[in-house]
Amino acid sequence: MKRILITGGAGFIGSNLIRFLLGERPDWELVNLDALTYAGNLQSLADVEAHPRYRFVKGDICDSEVVRAAMEGCSGVFHLAAESHVDRSILDAAPFLRTNVLGTQVLLEMARQIGVGRFLLVSTDEVYGSLSPDDPPFHEDLPLAPNSPYSASKAGADLLAKAYFATYGLPVVITRCSNNYGPYQFPEKLIPLIIRNALSDRIIPVYGDGMQVRDWIYVEDHCRGLLNAFERGKPGEVYNLGGHAEMPNIAIVRQALAALGKPESLIRHVTDRPGHDRRYAMATDRAEKELGWRPGHRFEEALPATIRWYVENADWIESVASGAYQEYYHRQYGKR
Ligand code: NAD
Ligand code: TYD
Repeated sequence: MKRILITGGAGFIGSNLIRFLLGERPDWELVNLDALTYAGNLQSLADVEAHPRYRFVKGDICDSEVVRAAMEGCSGVFHLAAESHVDRSILDAAPFLRTNVLGTQVLLEMARQIGVGRFLLVSTDEVYGSLSPDDPPFHEDLPLAPNSPYSASKAGADLLAKAYFATYGLPVVITRCSNNYGPYQFPEKLIPLIIRNALSDRIIPVYGDGMQVRDWIYVEDHCRGLLNAFERGKPGEVYNLGGHAEMPNIAIVRQALAALGKPESLIRHVTDRPGHDRRYAMATDRAEKELGWRPGHRFEEALPATIRWYVENADWIESVASGAYQEYYHRQYGKR
Protein backbone atom coordinates (compact mmCIF):
# COMPACT_ATOMS: atom_id res chain seq x y z
CA MET A 1 0.00 0.00 0.00
CA LYS A 2 1.31 3.46 -0.98
CA ARG A 3 0.36 6.49 1.09
CA ILE A 4 -0.23 9.70 -0.87
CA LEU A 5 -0.87 13.19 0.50
CA ILE A 6 -3.43 15.37 -1.29
CA THR A 7 -3.56 19.02 -0.19
CA GLY A 8 -6.76 20.97 -0.81
CA GLY A 9 -8.78 17.79 -1.20
CA ALA A 10 -11.98 19.43 0.06
CA GLY A 11 -11.98 21.89 -2.83
CA PHE A 12 -13.46 21.52 -6.29
CA ILE A 13 -10.64 19.72 -8.11
CA GLY A 14 -9.28 18.05 -4.98
CA SER A 15 -12.59 16.34 -4.15
CA ASN A 16 -12.94 15.12 -7.74
CA LEU A 17 -9.32 13.93 -7.65
CA ILE A 18 -9.79 11.96 -4.43
CA ARG A 19 -12.83 10.15 -5.80
CA PHE A 20 -10.96 9.50 -9.06
CA LEU A 21 -7.79 8.16 -7.39
CA LEU A 22 -9.67 5.91 -4.98
CA GLY A 23 -11.20 4.28 -8.06
CA GLU A 24 -8.07 4.22 -10.22
CA ARG A 25 -5.42 3.15 -7.71
CA PRO A 26 -6.67 0.42 -5.35
CA ASP A 27 -3.23 0.20 -3.71
CA TRP A 28 -3.14 3.87 -2.69
CA GLU A 29 -4.13 5.24 0.69
CA LEU A 30 -5.06 8.93 0.51
CA VAL A 31 -4.51 11.55 3.20
CA ASN A 32 -6.46 14.75 2.54
CA LEU A 33 -4.93 17.80 4.24
CA ASP A 34 -7.24 20.80 4.00
CA ALA A 35 -7.76 23.89 6.14
CA LEU A 36 -11.46 24.11 5.22
CA THR A 37 -11.44 27.74 4.16
CA TYR A 38 -14.68 29.06 2.65
CA ALA A 39 -13.80 26.97 -0.45
CA GLY A 40 -13.37 23.68 1.41
CA ASN A 41 -16.50 21.55 1.48
CA LEU A 42 -16.44 18.10 3.02
CA GLN A 43 -19.96 17.45 1.76
CA SER A 44 -18.34 17.07 -1.64
CA LEU A 45 -16.66 13.94 -0.24
CA ALA A 46 -19.57 12.57 1.78
CA ASP A 47 -19.74 9.42 -0.38
CA VAL A 48 -16.09 8.48 0.31
CA GLU A 49 -15.78 9.76 3.86
CA ALA A 50 -15.89 6.25 5.37
CA HIS A 51 -13.70 4.69 2.68
CA PRO A 52 -11.01 2.50 4.33
CA ARG A 53 -8.26 4.04 2.17
CA TYR A 54 -9.20 7.66 2.82
CA ARG A 55 -8.38 9.90 5.78
CA PHE A 56 -9.13 13.58 6.36
CA VAL A 57 -6.82 15.89 8.32
CA LYS A 58 -7.95 19.44 9.02
CA GLY A 59 -4.92 21.69 8.90
CA ASP A 60 -3.11 24.60 7.31
CA ILE A 61 -0.31 23.99 4.81
CA CYS A 62 1.52 27.01 6.26
CA ASP A 63 1.94 25.15 9.57
CA SER A 64 5.07 23.01 9.26
CA GLU A 65 4.21 20.76 12.23
CA VAL A 66 0.78 19.98 10.77
CA VAL A 67 2.39 19.33 7.40
CA ARG A 68 5.07 17.08 8.91
CA ALA A 69 2.49 14.95 10.68
CA ALA A 70 0.31 14.65 7.58
CA MET A 71 3.21 13.94 5.21
CA GLU A 72 4.99 11.39 7.42
CA GLY A 73 4.96 8.00 5.70
CA CYS A 74 3.80 9.43 2.35
CA SER A 75 5.68 8.51 -0.81
CA GLY A 76 4.07 11.22 -2.93
CA VAL A 77 2.22 14.53 -2.78
CA PHE A 78 -0.45 16.09 -5.01
CA HIS A 79 -0.42 19.76 -4.00
CA LEU A 80 -3.69 21.51 -4.83
CA ALA A 81 -4.41 23.63 -1.74
CA ALA A 82 -4.63 27.27 -2.76
CA GLU A 83 -6.61 30.44 -2.67
CA SER A 84 -8.02 30.13 -6.16
CA HIS A 85 -10.37 32.98 -7.07
CA VAL A 86 -8.99 35.91 -9.11
CA ASP A 87 -11.66 38.39 -7.98
CA ARG A 88 -10.90 37.70 -4.31
CA SER A 89 -7.19 38.20 -4.98
CA ILE A 90 -7.97 41.66 -6.37
CA LEU A 91 -9.84 42.56 -3.17
CA ASP A 92 -7.13 41.18 -0.85
CA ALA A 93 -3.92 39.62 -2.09
CA ALA A 94 -2.49 38.72 1.32
CA PRO A 95 -4.12 35.28 1.82
CA PHE A 96 -2.98 34.35 -1.71
CA LEU A 97 0.64 35.11 -0.95
CA ARG A 98 0.41 33.29 2.37
CA THR A 99 -1.16 30.04 1.17
CA ASN A 100 0.02 29.86 -2.43
CA VAL A 101 3.63 30.97 -1.93
CA LEU A 102 4.52 30.41 1.73
CA GLY A 103 2.35 27.31 2.10
CA THR A 104 3.89 25.78 -1.00
CA GLN A 105 7.38 26.45 0.38
CA VAL A 106 6.46 24.71 3.66
CA LEU A 107 5.26 21.66 1.70
CA LEU A 108 8.31 21.58 -0.57
CA GLU A 109 10.66 21.89 2.37
CA MET A 110 8.92 19.09 4.30
CA ALA A 111 8.88 16.90 1.19
CA ARG A 112 12.64 17.44 0.92
CA GLN A 113 13.22 16.61 4.58
CA ILE A 114 11.01 13.53 4.50
CA GLY A 115 12.36 12.48 1.10
CA VAL A 116 9.07 11.94 -0.76
CA GLY A 117 9.51 10.24 -4.13
CA ARG A 118 7.26 12.57 -6.14
CA PHE A 119 5.83 16.06 -5.60
CA LEU A 120 3.15 17.15 -8.07
CA LEU A 121 2.47 20.88 -8.08
CA VAL A 122 -0.90 21.80 -9.59
CA SER A 123 -0.28 25.11 -11.33
CA THR A 124 -2.36 27.03 -13.85
CA ASP A 125 -2.31 28.48 -17.36
CA GLU A 126 -2.83 31.89 -15.75
CA VAL A 127 0.90 32.06 -14.88
CA TYR A 128 1.65 32.70 -18.58
CA GLY A 129 -0.36 35.94 -18.65
CA SER A 130 -2.62 36.86 -21.53
CA LEU A 131 -2.77 36.12 -25.28
CA SER A 132 -4.09 38.23 -28.15
CA PRO A 133 -6.68 36.63 -30.45
CA ASP A 134 -4.11 35.58 -33.08
CA ASP A 135 -1.26 34.49 -30.80
CA PRO A 136 -0.24 30.82 -30.81
CA PRO A 137 -1.26 28.93 -27.63
CA PHE A 138 0.90 28.88 -24.50
CA HIS A 139 3.75 26.35 -24.48
CA GLU A 140 5.74 25.28 -21.46
CA ASP A 141 8.97 27.16 -22.25
CA LEU A 142 7.42 30.63 -22.29
CA PRO A 143 8.49 33.01 -19.54
CA LEU A 144 5.87 33.50 -16.83
CA ALA A 145 4.01 36.82 -17.04
CA PRO A 146 1.12 36.75 -14.55
CA ASN A 147 -1.26 39.71 -14.27
CA SER A 148 -3.43 39.12 -11.19
CA PRO A 149 -2.36 38.69 -7.57
CA TYR A 150 -3.76 35.13 -7.86
CA SER A 151 -1.69 34.22 -10.90
CA ALA A 152 1.39 36.01 -9.52
CA SER A 153 1.12 33.93 -6.34
CA LYS A 154 0.71 30.73 -8.38
CA ALA A 155 3.74 31.73 -10.48
CA GLY A 156 5.65 32.11 -7.20
CA ALA A 157 4.69 28.56 -6.21
CA ASP A 158 5.53 27.24 -9.67
CA LEU A 159 8.99 28.85 -9.64
CA LEU A 160 9.69 27.70 -6.09
CA ALA A 161 8.92 24.13 -7.10
CA LYS A 162 11.39 24.44 -9.97
CA ALA A 163 13.96 25.87 -7.58
CA TYR A 164 13.53 22.90 -5.22
CA PHE A 165 14.22 20.60 -8.14
CA ALA A 166 17.25 22.56 -9.36
CA THR A 167 18.71 23.18 -5.91
CA TYR A 168 17.87 20.05 -3.93
CA GLY A 169 16.91 17.56 -6.61
CA LEU A 170 13.40 17.21 -5.14
CA PRO A 171 11.50 15.16 -7.75
CA VAL A 172 8.96 17.80 -8.59
CA VAL A 173 6.54 17.68 -11.54
CA ILE A 174 4.48 20.75 -12.46
CA THR A 175 1.20 20.78 -14.37
CA ARG A 176 -0.36 23.95 -15.73
CA CYS A 177 -4.01 23.49 -16.54
CA SER A 178 -6.72 25.64 -18.07
CA ASN A 179 -10.18 26.48 -16.64
CA ASN A 180 -11.92 23.45 -15.14
CA TYR A 181 -15.65 22.78 -14.96
CA GLY A 182 -17.68 19.92 -13.53
CA PRO A 183 -19.44 18.85 -10.32
CA TYR A 184 -18.68 20.39 -6.90
CA GLN A 185 -17.27 23.72 -8.10
CA PHE A 186 -17.80 26.64 -5.73
CA PRO A 187 -20.46 28.88 -7.28
CA GLU A 188 -18.25 31.99 -7.33
CA LYS A 189 -16.63 30.63 -10.52
CA LEU A 190 -18.23 31.38 -13.88
CA ILE A 191 -20.05 28.16 -14.83
CA PRO A 192 -21.66 27.24 -11.48
CA LEU A 193 -22.40 30.94 -10.93
CA ILE A 194 -24.34 31.09 -14.19
CA ILE A 195 -26.29 27.95 -13.26
CA ARG A 196 -27.04 29.04 -9.72
CA ASN A 197 -28.16 32.54 -10.71
CA ALA A 198 -30.16 31.37 -13.72
CA LEU A 199 -32.02 28.75 -11.67
CA SER A 200 -33.28 31.48 -9.36
CA ASP A 201 -33.85 33.98 -12.20
CA ARG A 202 -31.11 36.31 -10.99
CA ILE A 203 -28.93 38.33 -13.36
CA ILE A 204 -25.68 36.90 -14.72
CA PRO A 205 -22.89 39.48 -14.42
CA VAL A 206 -20.70 39.39 -17.54
CA TYR A 207 -17.47 41.32 -17.12
CA GLY A 208 -16.85 43.91 -19.85
CA ASP A 209 -17.75 42.82 -23.37
CA GLY A 210 -17.72 39.10 -22.45
CA MET A 211 -15.30 38.35 -25.28
CA GLN A 212 -12.52 37.13 -22.99
CA VAL A 213 -11.54 33.64 -24.08
CA ARG A 214 -10.78 30.73 -21.76
CA ASP A 215 -9.90 27.13 -22.59
CA TRP A 216 -12.27 24.79 -20.72
CA ILE A 217 -11.45 21.31 -19.48
CA TYR A 218 -13.75 18.82 -17.79
CA VAL A 219 -12.43 18.23 -14.27
CA GLU A 220 -12.10 14.45 -14.70
CA ASP A 221 -9.79 14.98 -17.67
CA HIS A 222 -7.65 17.21 -15.46
CA CYS A 223 -7.60 14.51 -12.75
CA ARG A 224 -6.35 11.92 -15.26
CA GLY A 225 -3.70 14.35 -16.45
CA LEU A 226 -2.55 14.82 -12.85
CA LEU A 227 -2.30 11.07 -12.30
CA ASN A 228 -0.35 10.59 -15.54
CA ALA A 229 1.98 13.47 -14.71
CA PHE A 230 2.51 12.07 -11.20
CA GLU A 231 3.36 8.61 -12.51
CA ARG A 232 5.02 9.30 -15.85
CA GLY A 233 6.23 12.91 -15.68
CA LYS A 234 9.93 13.67 -15.78
CA PRO A 235 11.28 15.23 -12.56
CA GLY A 236 11.71 18.99 -12.96
CA GLU A 237 9.41 19.07 -16.01
CA VAL A 238 6.33 21.20 -16.69
CA TYR A 239 3.28 19.83 -18.53
CA ASN A 240 0.44 21.91 -19.95
CA LEU A 241 -3.03 20.36 -19.66
CA GLY A 242 -6.00 21.79 -21.52
CA GLY A 243 -9.37 20.89 -22.97
CA HIS A 244 -8.94 22.21 -26.52
CA ALA A 245 -12.19 24.09 -26.03
CA GLU A 246 -11.57 27.82 -26.40
CA MET A 247 -14.69 29.84 -25.83
CA PRO A 248 -15.60 33.49 -25.19
CA ASN A 249 -17.39 33.91 -21.85
CA ILE A 250 -20.53 35.30 -23.46
CA ALA A 251 -20.88 32.15 -25.60
CA ILE A 252 -20.80 29.99 -22.46
CA VAL A 253 -23.39 32.15 -20.76
CA ARG A 254 -25.67 31.87 -23.80
CA GLN A 255 -25.22 28.09 -24.10
CA ALA A 256 -25.92 27.56 -20.42
CA LEU A 257 -29.02 29.77 -20.45
CA ALA A 258 -30.34 27.90 -23.49
CA ALA A 259 -29.73 24.53 -21.82
CA LEU A 260 -31.57 25.73 -18.72
CA GLY A 261 -34.44 27.21 -20.73
CA LYS A 262 -33.76 30.68 -19.31
CA PRO A 263 -33.91 33.99 -21.25
CA GLU A 264 -30.86 35.99 -22.35
CA SER A 265 -32.44 39.01 -20.66
CA LEU A 266 -30.75 37.71 -17.48
CA ILE A 267 -27.37 38.76 -18.94
CA ARG A 268 -26.00 42.00 -17.51
CA HIS A 269 -22.73 43.46 -18.79
CA VAL A 270 -20.93 44.92 -15.76
CA THR A 271 -17.64 46.78 -15.21
CA ASP A 272 -14.71 44.70 -16.36
CA ARG A 273 -12.35 42.95 -13.93
CA PRO A 274 -9.17 45.06 -13.49
CA GLY A 275 -6.21 43.54 -15.35
CA HIS A 276 -8.56 41.02 -16.96
CA ASP A 277 -6.61 38.54 -19.11
CA ARG A 278 -8.05 38.53 -22.62
CA ARG A 279 -7.31 35.02 -23.74
CA TYR A 280 -5.79 31.72 -22.56
CA ALA A 281 -5.05 28.79 -24.87
CA MET A 282 -2.91 25.73 -24.31
CA ALA A 283 -0.50 23.70 -26.45
CA THR A 284 -0.59 20.23 -24.89
CA ASP A 285 1.79 18.34 -27.23
CA ARG A 286 4.25 17.56 -24.44
CA ALA A 287 1.62 15.95 -22.22
CA GLU A 288 0.26 14.01 -25.19
CA LYS A 289 3.69 12.73 -26.18
CA GLU A 290 5.32 12.13 -22.80
CA LEU A 291 2.33 11.33 -20.60
CA GLY A 292 0.11 9.61 -23.16
CA TRP A 293 -2.67 11.98 -22.13
CA ARG A 294 -5.47 13.66 -24.05
CA PRO A 295 -8.66 15.24 -22.75
CA GLY A 296 -11.42 12.66 -23.22
CA HIS A 297 -14.54 14.82 -22.85
CA ARG A 298 -16.02 17.15 -25.42
CA PHE A 299 -17.33 20.49 -24.19
CA GLU A 300 -20.57 20.09 -26.18
CA GLU A 301 -21.47 17.02 -24.10
CA ALA A 302 -19.72 17.68 -20.80
CA LEU A 303 -21.21 21.17 -20.31
CA PRO A 304 -24.83 19.92 -20.51
CA ALA A 305 -23.90 16.99 -18.25
CA THR A 306 -22.40 19.43 -15.74
CA ILE A 307 -25.52 21.60 -15.88
CA ARG A 308 -27.67 18.52 -15.24
CA TRP A 309 -25.50 17.64 -12.24
CA TYR A 310 -26.12 21.04 -10.63
CA VAL A 311 -29.84 20.87 -11.38
CA GLU A 312 -30.07 17.38 -9.85
CA ASN A 313 -27.93 18.37 -6.86
CA ALA A 314 -29.66 21.61 -6.01
CA ASP A 315 -29.24 20.78 -2.30
CA TRP A 316 -25.42 20.89 -2.70
CA ILE A 317 -25.60 24.42 -4.16
CA GLU A 318 -28.20 25.39 -1.57
CA SER A 319 -26.02 24.34 1.35
CA VAL A 320 -23.13 26.32 -0.13
CA ALA A 321 -25.35 29.37 -0.63
CA SER A 322 -26.72 29.20 2.92
CA GLY A 323 -23.33 28.47 4.50
CA ALA A 324 -24.66 25.19 5.96
CA TYR A 325 -21.76 23.30 4.34
CA GLN A 326 -19.43 24.86 6.88
CA GLU A 327 -21.23 23.04 9.69
CA TYR A 328 -20.63 19.66 8.10
CA TYR A 329 -17.11 19.18 9.50
CA HIS A 330 -18.30 19.78 13.05
CA ARG A 331 -21.21 17.39 12.62
CA GLN A 332 -19.06 14.61 11.18
CA TYR A 333 -15.69 15.14 12.83
CA GLY A 334 -16.30 17.64 15.64
CA LYS A 335 -16.49 15.13 18.47
CA ARG A 336 -13.34 13.20 17.53
P1 NAD B 1 -10.77 25.51 -4.58
O1 NAD B 1 -10.72 26.95 -4.18
O2 NAD B 1 -12.08 24.90 -4.95
O3 NAD B 1 -10.14 24.60 -3.42
C1 NAD B 1 -9.00 24.96 -2.71
C2 NAD B 1 -8.93 24.09 -1.45
O4 NAD B 1 -7.72 24.44 -0.75
C3 NAD B 1 -10.08 24.31 -0.48
O5 NAD B 1 -10.59 23.06 -0.05
C4 NAD B 1 -9.45 25.06 0.68
O6 NAD B 1 -10.06 24.79 1.93
C5 NAD B 1 -8.01 24.56 0.63
N1 NAD B 1 -7.06 25.51 1.24
C6 NAD B 1 -6.97 26.84 1.00
N2 NAD B 1 -5.99 27.38 1.77
C7 NAD B 1 -5.46 26.36 2.49
C8 NAD B 1 -4.41 26.27 3.45
N3 NAD B 1 -3.71 27.36 3.84
N4 NAD B 1 -4.11 25.05 3.97
C9 NAD B 1 -4.81 23.93 3.59
N5 NAD B 1 -5.82 23.97 2.71
C10 NAD B 1 -6.14 25.16 2.16
O7 NAD B 1 -9.73 25.38 -5.78
P2 NAD B 1 -9.76 24.44 -7.06
O8 NAD B 1 -10.49 25.13 -8.14
O9 NAD B 1 -10.15 23.06 -6.65
O10 NAD B 1 -8.21 24.45 -7.47
C11 NAD B 1 -7.31 23.49 -6.91
C12 NAD B 1 -5.91 23.79 -7.42
O11 NAD B 1 -5.90 23.73 -8.85
C13 NAD B 1 -5.40 25.17 -7.05
O12 NAD B 1 -4.02 25.06 -6.76
C14 NAD B 1 -5.62 26.00 -8.31
O13 NAD B 1 -4.69 27.05 -8.40
C15 NAD B 1 -5.37 24.94 -9.37
N6 NAD B 1 -6.05 25.16 -10.67
C16 NAD B 1 -7.40 25.38 -10.69
C17 NAD B 1 -8.04 25.55 -11.91
C18 NAD B 1 -9.54 25.76 -11.98
O14 NAD B 1 -10.06 25.99 -13.08
N7 NAD B 1 -10.28 25.64 -10.91
C19 NAD B 1 -7.30 25.51 -13.10
C20 NAD B 1 -5.91 25.28 -13.03
C21 NAD B 1 -5.30 25.09 -11.79
P1 TYD C 1 -13.53 32.47 -13.33
O1 TYD C 1 -14.47 31.33 -13.29
O2 TYD C 1 -13.45 33.40 -12.16
O3 TYD C 1 -12.10 31.88 -13.71
P2 TYD C 1 -10.72 32.65 -14.08
O4 TYD C 1 -10.85 34.09 -13.76
O5 TYD C 1 -9.73 31.95 -13.22
O6 TYD C 1 -10.52 32.40 -15.56
O7 TYD C 1 -13.89 33.38 -14.60
C1 TYD C 1 -13.89 32.83 -15.90
C2 TYD C 1 -14.12 33.99 -16.86
O8 TYD C 1 -15.44 34.50 -16.66
C3 TYD C 1 -13.19 35.17 -16.63
O9 TYD C 1 -12.85 35.74 -17.89
C4 TYD C 1 -14.00 36.14 -15.82
C5 TYD C 1 -15.41 35.90 -16.30
N1 TYD C 1 -16.48 36.09 -15.30
C6 TYD C 1 -17.59 36.91 -15.62
O10 TYD C 1 -17.69 37.48 -16.73
N2 TYD C 1 -18.57 37.04 -14.68
C7 TYD C 1 -18.51 36.44 -13.46
O11 TYD C 1 -19.43 36.63 -12.62
C8 TYD C 1 -17.38 35.62 -13.15
C9 TYD C 1 -17.26 34.92 -11.82
C10 TYD C 1 -16.40 35.46 -14.13
